[in-house]
Amino acid sequence: MSEIKTIEGVDVRGKRVIVRVDFNVPVKDGVVGDDTRIRAALPTIEYLVSGGAKVILMSHLGRPAGDGFDEKFTLAPAARRLAELIDAPVAFASDTVGADARAKAAALADGCVLLLENLRFDAREKKNDPAFCEELASLADLYVNDAFGTAHRAHASTAGVASLLPAYAGFLLAGEVETLSDMLDAPRRPFVAILGGSKVSDKVGVIDALIGKADTIIVGGGMCFTFLLAQGKTVGTSLKEDDWVVRAGEMIDKAAAAGVKLLLPVDVKVADAFAEDAATRICSVDAIPCDMMGLDIGPETEKLYAQAIAEGSTVFWNGPMGVFEMQAFEHGTRAVAEAVAANKEAATIIGGGDSVAAVNKFALADEMTFISTGGGASMELVEGKVLPGVAALRS
Ligand code: 3PG
Repeated sequence: MSEIKTIEGVDVRGKRVIVRVDFNVPVKDGVVGDDTRIRAALPTIEYLVSGGAKVILMSHLGRPAGDGFDEKFTLAPAARRLAELIDAPVAFASDTVGADARAKAAALADGCVLLLENLRFDAREKKNDPAFCEELASLADLYVNDAFGTAHRAHASTAGVASLLPAYAGFLLAGEVETLSDMLDAPRRPFVAILGGSKVSDKVGVIDALIGKADTIIVGGGMCFTFLLAQGKTVGTSLKEDDWVVRAGEMIDKAAAAGVKLLLPVDVKVADAFAEDAATRICSVDAIPCDMMGLDIGPETEKLYAQAIAEGSTVFWNGPMGVFEMQAFEHGTRAVAEAVAANKEAATIIGGGDSVAAVNKFALADEMTFISTGGGASMELVEGKVLPGVAALRS
């Protein structure tokens, strides 16, 4: 597969460069909460600013209806946060390809930054509409995609516009693709993958793909109960997907046939209700009471998983081990996070979404080798799918 060209070394001085970033960040009362994604785009933005480009940033935020401005999803707070982070003014256009965007893009001085309003206020963005792509492209001379978190979407700003302008990857997108691809193609072994989250149906493609690549696969979270059912156990009132039991059994067999260790919990923390103050106890997976639900892995499982994690030279983690948002059920996820953080010999890669939230909650982010900014995008890449935003830069 051809390499993706990054913006490095391209003469951008005096050029209008339109950059797709992923500023899909939490906002409360007009203020950005977790600004990780904005910070992650800074190397590209600062590179372009210092190279004398006129930098036009575009992003989506949330999932607005697509029929025009919606205060709840405005990117204005992201512009304010970016201005603080780069310690320079950031102009903000009140539309995306309308009169204000065109005027502000035209007036931009070298080394200055403009952020356009939310792309998804226009329904044509998600449809990859050709006319919308043309309108975006007409604002600039060059296109850069640095929105790894949105690279699995074939939208106008991530896919269509790339064929209308000289197109390059930003440093964040290139780094994400390189790290995750290297992990899959040439991992240092043993390669240990930890997969959690609530549903088997969401992770089946990832587990299938990793059975061909990893040496050990650790399964936790709500989805483990469907696997336990496939092993003939009873799981009480735990979350389960009856339609996926057969498929889970096939994955257990496939892993065994491939010589891949697939680890499932040996004990769990069960509760009489899905609540912080529920009555709880630890029990073996062979003795889950019929009227209780498993909401976390148990202490024996924590030890088993920590040992497997300690043996890894590459460790990939996606998905919590339990309902870590509730203090009563965070212990297993914390134990896994600590075990990953403690393995200093390994490349430790956190695959976006809830596992990033968990690592942040336990203040362990700095201990990891790499934290992906893409939840869905990193999962699709690991699954072996082509990411439209990356493919558009290769063609
Ligand atoms: C994300 O948060 O995963 C990305 O920004 C993509 O957002 P989307 O799922 O709304 O396309």
